[in-house]
Amino acid sequence: MELIVHPLDRTLAFSPGANLLEVLREHNVPISYSCTAGRCGTCRCKVTRGSVLVSGSETQITRMNEGQFALACMSVLTENCEIEVPEPDEVVTHPARVLKATVVAIEDMTHDIKRIVLRPAKPLSFSPGQYAQVQFTPNHIRPYSMASLASDEELEFHVRLVPGGRVSGYINTELAVGHSVRVSGPLGTAYLREKHSGPMLCVAGGTGLAPILSIVRGAMGAHMTNPIYLYFGVRSPRDVYGVNWLEDLARDCPNLSVQVVSTSDTTGQSMRTGLVTDAIASDWGDSLKDFRAYLCGSPPMVEAATLLLKQRGIPPEHVYADAFYAVGP
Ligand SMILES: Cc1cc2nc3c(=O)[nH]c(=O)nc-3n(C[C@H](O)[C@H](O)[C@H](O)COP(=O)(O)OP(=O)(O)OC[C@H]3O[C@@H](n4cnc5c(N)ncnc54)[C@H](O)[C@@H]3O)c2cc1C
Ligand code: FES
Repeated sequence: MELIVHPLDRTLAFSPGANLLEVLREHNVPISYSCTAGRCGTCRCKVTRGSVLVSGSETQITRMNEGQFALACMSVLTENCEIEVPEPDEVVTHPARVLKATVVAIEDMTHDIKRIVLRPAKPLSFSPGQYAQVQFTPNHIRPYSMASLASDEELEFHVRLVPGGRVSGYINTELAVGHSVRVSGPLGTAYLREKHSGPMLCVAGGTGLAPILSIVRGAMGAHMTNPIYLYFGVRSPRDVYGVNWLEDLARDCPNLSVQVVSTSDTTGQSMRTGLVTDAIASDWGDSLKDFRAYLCGSPPMVEAATLLLKQRGIPPEHVYADAFYAVGP
């Protein structure tokens, strides 16, 4: 049977029942992947003709037809079909790992945001903008985005205390320097596209600043000269943090422009008032077509920004978003 892979227009032979990711790798088709277990989303591709069978959580099997997306690592090929793999020139393959790490610093950034620094026993390879599952105890596990770079010796996370939150509450009251934690990853597809040379729109809501800092630092480290427009949205001026880091980055990177936007009153403050999406809408007309956008933070902000950017002409495949969905228990 035959699988046609776009945009490479390669035709690959396979036996029915073969795993899609394995077929792509056997034929050296460039494809990003990490966990190989349906968790990180890195291997997502689009079915453009025919269908594939995707195994989900537990024993559920779903047929993905033309126009639908499937995780290659969870897909089984049963018929002739065609798929589209994302940006073959931007492939990242960081092996999924589980590492032990030690808490080396916990710092208050605002009234409800903590900066957590971990020293991993071994280095974790990841791309700027990715996240990891952090296990503080067997019962306290949540995804958090790295604010650091893979080349740093330490892993840095910014955690907002959610009212009534189980894990952020644990971090707030019980986590201490010297504690041992487990870090699994990397995960996520909202990572820096280093091959892109056009303008970048980076939108951070609250602790969404963590992956955005990693992306901006990563772009500078890779000597990218793209114009970078960073919008940092907060609910009130007291939620702003990391301004000194942003100022340092802007000093070192003349292509970086930073806008801090607060929803509530900013009288007497050097920041804009309103929703971060309104600020972007008023700054940019329909001239966003060549942009790549990175959106990180609360789900409502990410959803509103995704909609706006689509209306302003950025193709959906050039919008890389990580919404900080609650993922209990
Ligand atoms: C891909 C990804 C990356 C993430 N990265 C970060 C990060 O870098 N920094 C960070 O602080 N968080 C991040 N999060 C969110 C984080 O994983 C937890 O969901 C968050 O810390 C709350 O966990 P909790 O156990 O304290 O709250 P829970 O006990 O899970 O929730 C308690 C209550 O609060 C609500 N709730 C949970 N989260 C929020 C929220 N963000 N806003 C409003 N209400 C909420 C829940 O619906 C529930 O009612 C990320 C989430 C995802 C999916
Ligand atoms: S490699 Fe397929 S979802 Fe992680």
